[in-house]
Amino acid sequence: MLRVGIVGATGYTALELIKILLRHPEVTITCLTSRDPDRPHVSEVHSLFRDQLGLNFCPLDIDQFCSAVDFAFCCLPHAASAEIVGQLIDKGLKVVDFSADYRLNEVSTFETWYNVKHPDPDRVGKTAYGIPELFRDSIVDADLVANPGCFPSSALIPLVPLLKSGLIGTSQIIIDSKTGISGAGRKANLKFHYPECNESISAYGIGTHRHMPEIDQIIHRFCGSETSVVFTPHLTPMDRGILSTIYVTSADSAGPSDVMDCWNDFYKEQPFVRVTSGSVATKHVSGTNFCDISASVCRDTIVITSALDNLIKGASGAAVQNFNAMCGFDETLGIL
Ligand SMILES: NC(=O)c1ccc[n+]([C@@H]2O[C@H](COP(=O)([O-])OP(=O)(O)OC[C@H]3O[C@@H](n4cnc5c(N)ncnc54)[C@H](OP(=O)(O)O)[C@@H]3O)[C@@H](O)[C@H]2O)c1
Repeated sequence: MLRVGIVGATGYTALELIKILLRHPEVTITCLTSRDPDRPHVSEVHSLFRDQLGLNFCPLDIDQFCSAVDFAFCCLPHAASAEIVGQLIDKGLKVVDFSADYRLNEVSTFETWYNVKHPDPDRVGKTAYGIPELFRDSIVDADLVANPGCFPSSALIPLVPLLKSGLIGTSQIIIDSKTGISGAGRKANLKFHYPECNESISAYGIGTHRHMPEIDQIIHRFCGSETSVVFTPHLTPMDRGILSTIYVTSADSAGPSDVMDCWNDFYKEQPFVRVTSGSVATKHVSGTNFCDISASVCRDTIVITSALDNLIKGASGAAVQNFNAMCGFDETLGIL
């Protein structure tokens, strides 16, 4: 059994990660960290694990953590994560990092969009980007994988095959995404209190959301040309889930059936991407590692819809998929 640890294990992504790891046949969870000096039992924070996991959270001590685990998942916020990840790698651990710290190729882009100095600039631009369906070859050999943002996964999974094959134009790509509130994490914030968001939908981060440069970067990598992605997320009164509606122009009069053929071919060996001619919905993928994608046409515009669970395919499921690839396990272990 491989010993795994989670840094920042009291949050929402860690909760889902623990659930998955408990059913993974090749791992045992040996260390969960939190800054809480009272070292609560795991069930005092995540009551779901009552009688299932006999561990207490402990503050992170790098030496102790590295002697207790073979592999680390880092579920910290951006900037806090890169303070830690480099130390874990230097001690010989493999790591999947959930934060945005290693997703962007340029330190200057990170510092502009995240408004903070990068704590580990030397690893930026050298890290595998964790969508296995698109970057498996670099993930398999990596010591560090940057788990992607939840919105970028929902947009890039449908877009990349179409851009690669030239079926759609790059001049205007409009991504309109709806997310559940767990996307903001567990920490208290007035904006996400129940009376503030229940029975209400609002757009946020218009033109400024930090996932925009991440989407741009990957699209640029695949199609070579600059794109002008317009990305607007909306907060919706759901616990979890992302639905992205993506408006693109077709090239060479390609229609929805060409789009579906392209996806069916590109993803034919990929168990977690489901192509459907029916409707996609957050409920159909809730609690799963699936990303469902569909295409329709409205006048000259191809309308793509994509649904995933922000905490699973958008975070912890993708992380375990990456972990499986990095460790040579069947990629579906624990998540199918
Ligand atoms: N939520 C999502 O849908 C989602 C999707 C994709 C990626 N992500 C990314 O995944 C990471 C975790 O997200 P989350 O939703 O699980 O967040 P969360 O629920 O707020 O949990 C964050 C965890 O980090 C710890 N923490 C917070 N600030 C810290 C700091 N300054 N130094 C050290 N530890 C700190 C907290 O533990 P203690 O307070 O107990 O120490 C907690 O365990 C973030 O980088 C996020 O952007 C989230």
